[in-house]
Parts: sequence; structure tokens; C-alpha cells
Amino acid sequence: MKTWYITGGTPGGFGMAYANAALEGGDRVVLTTRRPGELRYWAARHRDRALVLPLDVTDPRQVRQTVAEAETRFGGIDVLVNNAGRGWYGSVEGMDDAALRKVFELNFFSVLEVTRAVLPGMRRRGSGWIVNMSSVAGLVGVPGFGFYSAAKFALEGLTDVLRQEVAPFGIKVLAVEPGAFRTRAYAGFAGQPIDESVPDYWPMLAVVRDGMIAENGQQPGDPDRGARAVIAAIDQDDPPKRLVLGSAGYDRVLHRLEAMLAELRGQEAVARGTDFPAA
Ligand SMILES: NC(=O)c1ccc[n+]([C@@H]2O[C@H](COP(=O)([O-])OP(=O)(O)OC[C@H]3O[C@@H](n4cnc5c(N)ncnc54)[C@H](OP(=O)(O)O)[C@@H]3O)[C@@H](O)[C@H]2O)c1
Repeated sequence: MKTWYITGGTPGGFGMAYANAALEGGDRVVLTTRRPGELRYWAARHRDRALVLPLDVTDPRQVRQTVAEAETRFGGIDVLVNNAGRGWYGSVEGMDDAALRKVFELNFFSVLEVTRAVLPGMRRRGSGWIVNMSSVAGLVGVPGFGFYSAAKFALEGLTDVLRQEVAPFGIKVLAVEPGAFRTRAYAGFAGQPIDESVPDYWPMLAVVRDGMIAENGQQPGDPDRGARAVIAAIDQDDPPKRLVLGSAGYDRVLHRLEAMLAELRGQEAVARGTDFPAA
């Protein structure tokens, strides 16, 4: 029986989907959320194997406290899911400085904070899984979501290095890249005014915002199926390093990587031509 520690446990989101799938598999779950009251009935249904803890992931004190509580209650964390995250739209040139820093605080620095809090216990026990919720936007830049893309790209880089650094301690690391999934992720875009400082980008941002509003509730991805696919992936003898979820996301990443590979192959002579001549 494994113990999971999951951030961002809002009903209808990926966090809850992971929690339910882990419980179905017979595991124990610590589900953290900013609003534990919303999970009162859910927690009561799974009292012996689930613990709901209040957590704003941008508060390092709360992070350390909840990790310690989870370890005390269940004797250690076997699977950390860094799930809490969210995107805001804005242009690279015009997005407000405070807003873009918030994007990085939530999607990058908080993940680092939680990971650093959980790693000592995993290293002591010589095992563990860290699942980082990235995005297709972490592999393919999305116009209008430059800072969300940048934060998820940064998370991809961190995940890639972390995987190699913690492997000797028996700890495994997976990046998950969903496309559009039917959660509450797109729910907050309706009614938001476009008031950036550079009006030239307003028409582009209006298209981005209206697209999110139109797709809210229609996203093709099913978070429950997504969570089950991740669990199946980490249970494999030879688990993947990355897992793209959703048909459209898969096509987009495939197209992007094939184009990058073709471009790279076309640059071989230029790349090799910049070495010092062999002595
Ligand atoms: N759905 C998609 O299409 C999609 C695509 C690619 C990647 N993802 C990634 O998947 C992950 C889960 O998102 P989701 O789709 O399940 O969307 P969601 O339903 O909006 O869930 C996001 C979660 O993050 C939490 N969160 C935001 N700020 C927080 C903070 N400061 N402290 C603690 N929790 C915070 C939210 O809590 P509140 O409810 O309190 O705000 C919510 O539980 C995210 O990392 C997202 O970037 C989603």
C-alpha cells in the first residue's frame, strides 16, 4: 500500500482524479487543498485511508507542516504529485510584472518547495515517485500563455535534471503533459477584462480568452482516464520519463518534435563546423 501526497485537490480537477484512482488501487492519500471544507464529505467517505490538509502551495511554512503531518500520519510519502498549477493569459511584452511573477511562483517555485520538503523522507527510505504536472504548453509554446509556457518549460528542465540526480537514491520522476482536459482550469476566464498596457496585443488576447471560454466544459480530455494512465505508467517495470495525455496534445507534441528534429538534422554541418579544427 503506497501513500500519496497530492497538491491542488479541487473537486473535478486532476488532483481529485489522482486521489480517487489511488484509493481505488488500495493506496492511502493525503490530499491538500486551499479549501478543505469542500472536501469534508469526500474525506469522511475515505476516513481510514485519506487525509485532507489545508495548503496554499505558495506558503513554504504550510508546505513543510503538511508534509510533516502526512509523514507522521502514514509513516512516509511514496508518491508526490505536484498537481497545483494554473495559467493566466497575457502577452510577453505587456503582461503585468506582478501577474507573471505569480505564474512562476505557483507553477515553478511552489513545485520546487514541495519537492524539497518531500525528498529527504524519500531519500531516507531509498524509494519514491515524483509526478510533476507539466503541460503540452511545457513542450510547445502557446501564444497568449507565454509565462505559463515558460514556467512549465522550466518545470520540464527541472524534472529532467531531478530525475537524474535522485535516481541513485531509488527515486523516480515523471513529467506529465496534458492537452486540454475537462477540469476547472478554464473556468476563471469568463468576464475577465483585457487591460494590458500594450493595446496592440488586445485582439490576440481576446481570441485566446474567448477560445478558453468556448472550450470550458467541452475539453476532450477526461481527468479520471488521465490519472489512471499515469498510475499505469509509474507501475511499469520500465516507466516513461514523460507522458503526454490527450489526442490533440499528442498530435501537437509529435508535430513539434518532428519539426525540431528535421530542423536540427538540417543544421548538422553548421553545428559541426563551429568546432576548432582537429589538431
Ligand atoms: N486541464 C487542463 O487542460 C490542463 C492542461 C495542461 C496542464 N494542466 C495542469 O494540470 C494541473 C491541474 O490542473 P487542473 O486541470 O486540474 O485545473 P484546476 O481544476 O483548475 O486545478 C488546479 C488546482 O491548482 C490549485 N491551486 C491554484 N493555486 C494554488 C495555490 N496557491 N495553492 C494551492 N493550490 C492551488 C487549485 O486550487 P483552487 O481551486 O483553490 O484554485 C486547483 O486545485 C495544473 O498543474 C495544470 O497546469 C491542466
